[in-house]
Amino acid sequence: MSIDVLIGGAGGKQVSFDAAMANRHGLIAGATGTGKTITLQTLAESFSRIGVPVFMADVKGDLAGISQPGKPHKEIDRRIQEIAIKGYQHRGVPTLFWDIFGEAGHPVHTTISDMGPLLLSNLLQLNDTQSGVLYTAFRIADDEGLLLLDLKDLRAMLVWLGKNRKEVSGEYGNVSSASIGAIQRKLLVLEEQGAENFFAEPMLRLKDLMMIDFSGQGVISLLDVSKLIHKSPKLYSTFLLWLLSELFENLPEVGDADKPKMVLFFDEAHLIFDDAPKALLDKVEQVVRLIRSKGVGVYFITQSPLDIPEDVLGQLGMRIQHALRAFTPKDQRAVRTAAETFRPNPNIDTESAITELGIGEALVSTLDKNGAPTPVERVLIRPPESSIGPIDKSKRNELIQRSPVGGRYEELIDRESAYELLKQRSEEESRVAAAVKADEQSSSGRPKRKRSSNRQSVSEAIMKSIARKASTMITGRLVRGLLGSLLGGR
Ligand SMILES: Nc1ncnc2c1ncn2[C@@H]1O[C@H](COP(=O)(O)OP(=O)(O)OP(=O)(O)O)[C@@H](O)[C@H]1O
Ligand SMILES: [Mg+2]
Repeated sequence: MSIDVLIGGAGGKQVSFDAAMANRHGLIAGATGTGKTITLQTLAESFSRIGVPVFMADVKGDLAGISQPGKPHKEIDRRIQEIAIKGYQHRGVPTLFWDIFGEAGHPVHTTISDMGPLLLSNLLQLNDTQSGVLYTAFRIADDEGLLLLDLKDLRAMLVWLGKNRKEVSGEYGNVSSASIGAIQRKLLVLEEQGAENFFAEPMLRLKDLMMIDFSGQGVISLLDVSKLIHKSPKLYSTFLLWLLSELFENLPEVGDADKPKMVLFFDEAHLIFDDAPKALLDKVEQVVRLIRSKGVGVYFITQSPLDIPEDVLGQLGMRIQHALRAFTPKDQRAVRTAAETFRPNPNIDTESAITELGIGEALVSTLDKNGAPTPVERVLIRPPESSIGPIDKSKRNELIQRSPVGGRYEELIDRESAYELLKQRSEEESRVAAAVKADEQSSSGRPKRKRSSNRQSVSEAIMKSIARKASTMITGRLVRGLLGSLLGGR
């Protein structure tokens, strides 16, 4: 039995999509103020109703209304008539509020180890040489089972690397102190942007983003990024990629299903692709392609289809194109690209329609049962049943208080990790060195040869101490997935 989900309609015709195809991803595009956010709200609501959990980011703080029933409104009533919607009722959707800063929702944490060197290099915008050094830091930490949980672990690891760069460069390649310094400075900037508490434990549990409520509705996880997106757009986009990566690495393969396991909406999607290195883009393209088989649908929201790399754009099955302006040559190119991605409909001049669409009106194409795109249709988007716009602070706080994950992430834990272990090591090293020095002083009359062999025993002692320490914490080398996040054995 297929589950049809209404997108909108016009002139007595309705356009729906088959939920079984919703893991084939989608695109919502359009100029500012043309209705993208409301379309996203409507789609998210529909997924929730059929029991699909949704993750989405609230960029302007105007999506929280999804948790509340909407109110009667002339414009909305007209739309309901025009689209001939049956059974429309004002109702909200079960919603969890999240916020990386922990102010407008439950805090979201992950660890440096889990994010991995690829995403972290992108976050810190490191050049190739600096990335190389960061990879070395991760390789040594991974090889030795040293957990890099928070920023202080990474800082300690970099200090250690700085001190031991001659010794490690044989095995791991050249490590320059200039690169270490550059990474340390970039970490400071990140800290100033408020990332200190983002890299912490308890780490976000994926199942908390994949809840179904007691009535069978998918829970919407709404991440407030209205502050983050200004403070650190890179942290926002890197977080989205990290989430994508975690889902991909951790969810099992699923066969054909009548609906997805989860749907993600990536608003301001251009931020993911703007000045991202080619190596990362290739991986993102791969993960987007493969995550389908895990039952995860990804919907990109952005102004112009030109914001999305072609390889990714080609994988987006559902297309909802709101109006675009065609003032500049670049605008016109975007209009043409958008038009070309649709399968033609003899009754519609796609290119000119794109510039004529009204607010909340769009050109839509979905995938049919065989996965082929349907001819483009011009429709009014169904209005949401939930409330449009923000909600007041006390209402939000009340929902956060009552939340089923309340209290799980608010308290940070700081378990033994690289920072503590490296500190222990260096204390042990100083102890051994001091003991040897005392020994040397008490026998200063000995011949030189003896002293040099004594020196050797100092470094031997240190190596032994490191080996001993290491053997108590190695849990097997840490293994990383496609986007560099940790696999298993956490
Ligand atoms: N499907 C719809 N039904 C009813 N009203 C709508 C619909 N779509 C848009 N609107 C109206 O248009 C306004 C602007 O839409 P919206 O906020 O979705 O634009 P946007 O494309 O997200 O803009 P921006 O790029 O600036 O974020 C809404 O506040 C709402 O009043
Ligand atoms: Mg918007």
